Amino acid sequence: MVWATANSNLALVKYWGKAPGGRNRAASASLSVTLDGLTTTAGVEERSDLAGDRVEWLPPGPTEAVTEYVGAVRRELGIERPVAVVLTSNFPVAAGLASSASAYAALASALAAAAPRRATPTEVAALARRGSGSACRSLFGGFVEWRPDGGDDAVTQVAPPDHWSLAILVAVTREGPKSVGSREGMKRTAATSPYYEAWLSASTGDLDGARAALAARDLGALGPIAERNALRMHAAAIAADPPLLYWEPATIAVMQEVARLRARGTGAFFSIDAGPQVKVLCESADADRVAAALAAVPGVSRVLRSRPGGGPEVLDRPPAWALGPLADHAGQAARRAVG
Ligand code: PMV
Repeated sequence: MVWATANSNLALVKYWGKAPGGRNRAASASLSVTLDGLTTTAGVEERSDLAGDRVEWLPPGPTEAVTEYVGAVRRELGIERPVAVVLTSNFPVAAGLASSASAYAALASALAAAAPRRATPTEVAALARRGSGSACRSLFGGFVEWRPDGGDDAVTQVAPPDHWSLAILVAVTREGPKSVGSREGMKRTAATSPYYEAWLSASTGDLDGARAALAARDLGALGPIAERNALRMHAAAIAADPPLLYWEPATIAVMQEVARLRARGTGAFFSIDAGPQVKVLCESADADRVAAALAAVPGVSRVLRSRPGGGPEVLDRPPAWALGPLADHAGQAARRAVG
């Protein structure tokens, strides 16, 4: 069995809209930070005794789309026999924490590692993107840019994880799956929101500013860009028909708390993806204070802490944190692998 881990990522300038032609090519460029410790592990094993590919999520989750993806990608990579796949994440799945990014990045990395021919990181990023667009950014560590680029999209690391000792805190306001997934959300926004074109053109302008602020490690410049980019994405989504309102009351309360922290002199800035959780950026020296303030907001159930993390790793065995879930629930293949 081949194992790979990949971290989730948080977009500071977001992807919310696809270019025509399929394969999850982006309508606009995005810039993300890879999130240390918000990780998915994927195990892949070729199995001649199986009639078709088999995918298992631990804890159990929907597998139809992943199974279809696995079938297409493994054939492209030259894996002829069916595969058994097991996936487990160490953070809430399908709750706006970009678990699909780490899942498809880990899965594409594990399939590529199990394949007879070596694929380049760029090829693996393109394969991950087909599962979930944002997954292509999780193929690299640190700060990552994804640009529509003529023939195919380009994904590049713009700075390594140790470029900047930022903290990324996640205020969890509701556990459990989101109501409308990002695939459907983007499609609906593009088809029905009068603000979709405005969102795309504003976002393109945000990218240049964000890249410069990142190079200068200037949170006072990057933070406001990330906040307005997230709010503009949500404004376009809220204006869709039917509307896409991903927020809970506590989502707004956390945004207000972040503004209060700033008014009292702490550099903290938020971002929100297609879900109710609020991600907050601050310097790592301020992380304890900011985490305590977020945890005290009514409706926040917990605060996860992360920092810029690395790219995928291919392993012979699953990482220690995955052994528990794998041994408890996994099918035969995973149980054999964990011994
Ligand atoms: O990759 P998807 O289809 O899960 O879409 C991700 C969309 C956002 O998380 C809202 C933005 C982004 O760039 O990650």
